[in-house]
Amino acid sequence: MANSVLFATSVLFVCLGNICRSPTAEGVFRAQVEKAGLGDHILIDSAGTGAFHVGEAPDRRSTEVAARRGYDLKALRARQVTRDDFDRFDFILAMDHQNLANLQRLQPSAYGGHLGLFLSLGSDLPTEEVPDPYYGGAQGFEHVLDLIENAGEGLLSRIRARLEGS
Ligand code: 4NP
Repeated sequence: MANSVLFATSVLFVCLGNICRSPTAEGVFRAQVEKAGLGDHILIDSAGTGAFHVGEAPDRRSTEVAARRGYDLKALRARQVTRDDFDRFDFILAMDHQNLANLQRLQPSAYGGHLGLFLSLGSDLPTEEVPDPYYGGAQGFEHVLDLIENAGEGLLSRIRARLEGS
């Protein structure tokens, strides 16, 4: 992959709007990676399959809930996923089945990375999807964070094993 010159591995988190779930995953995973001392080795980004919030900061509810757990999302800005992302990212991780299906339609046949559901990398989770919290209450945003923290640790273990094996 193009970025492997600079980064050993690259990860793109994808949801619908890129203002709730995927920027939360980006912020949480960046903190987990920094804590593991791998910040110089793993490129992390997020994007949305939809374009309606492009250029916007994350939803205030996501930012506030994340900040209470020590994650800073404020500088992130929404963008839409593109076909070029398949050249740039080793892992492209969708928050739900709908976004995964949209990514599969965009995926070049020669893509050699891992495209899948983010929560498939988690441990003992009761669901395969990070539910869209946009139209719900604060509880939904806390639940999103719980799921993302869990799957982020699983992703980190998987990448660590890859880095140690290479
Ligand atoms: P996200 O949440 O996909 O987690 O960023 C959503 C944000 C906005 C909308 C839907 C989901 N929306 O319909 O505007």
